[in-house]
Amino acid sequence: MTLPATSFDWVRALVHRESAIVLAPGKEYLVEARLLPMARQLGLADVGSLVEKVRSRPDPDSTRRIVEALTTNETSWFRDGDPFTTLTSTVLPSVLAARGPNERLQIWSAACSSGQEPYTIAMLLEDALPNAGQRVSITATDLSREMVERTRAGRFSQLEVNRGLPAPMLVRHFTRAGNEWEVAANLRRMITASECNLAAPLPRMGPFDVVYLRNVLIYFDLSTKQAILRRVRELMRPDGWLFLGAAETTLGVDDSWERVVLGRSSAYRPLKGA
Ligand SMILES: C[S@@+](CC[C@H](N)C(=O)[O-])C[C@H]1O[C@@H](n2cnc3c(N)ncnc32)[C@H](O)[C@@H]1O
Repeated sequence: MTLPATSFDWVRALVHRESAIVLAPGKEYLVEARLLPMARQLGLADVGSLVEKVRSRPDPDSTRRIVEALTTNETSWFRDGDPFTTLTSTVLPSVLAARGPNERLQIWSAACSSGQEPYTIAMLLEDALPNAGQRVSITATDLSREMVERTRAGRFSQLEVNRGLPAPMLVRHFTRAGNEWEVAANLRRMITASECNLAAPLPRMGPFDVVYLRNVLIYFDLSTKQAILRRVRELMRPDGWLFLGAAETTLGVDDSWERVVLGRSSAYRPLKGA
């Protein structure tokens, strides 16, 4: 049975309320595909039956699972290259020059998915900086509890490792764990992973020197993007650096950022006095 319009509208409203993710009309197929495993697990015939069951008696665990199933967790190592290679070639030297020798650098991966982004950052810093573990802390957050748990675990399948992780880095920073690869303990210690909804008031964190807010603003409407950029800015150092995804920009969204070209990509810095 195709998903009834009332069921789709209920899921759409729930997902928007809980995550700010916009599910435009026409995304019924996405809702069906993402919720079918949950329906099957509960022994229900189809997604419509699942939605009606949860809608008539909502419980926090089921609604959370529905919202999480509608997040897109696509990610890879060194995604788009330059936002990561320029961290050690340009951003880090500038940040280190501006801080005292005992100041800890704080980096935030603000929609970390299964952890490839924060561990890419951790590997680069470990290779570039003596005593990286003492000098840097990386905060990794995501809306999805499952993704936060995966980031904490730091375990990846062969298929995941094949997506962009250079072989020398695999050899240097991972060990085999059954048919998975486990990130070295010193890198895991650099990262604190927790749940955080960017579309809600943010917890006290930072101040961050560098923020990776990549490939997540695309899911939100304009006013949500504006609110998130404002809240992120409040948690950043005035001379901090923000990396967005390749299809994302502050231009036309929030004019309190200065765009800086870095390699073939760009970073954004809080505009002074804005
Ligand atoms: C496409 S992934 C991007 C992962 C990584 N930043 C990258 O560029 O490869 C988007 C992530 O944003 C998370 N997300 C979606 N809505 C969110 C929200 N309101 N607050 C925090 N994270 C959210 C999803 O759970 C998902 O893991």
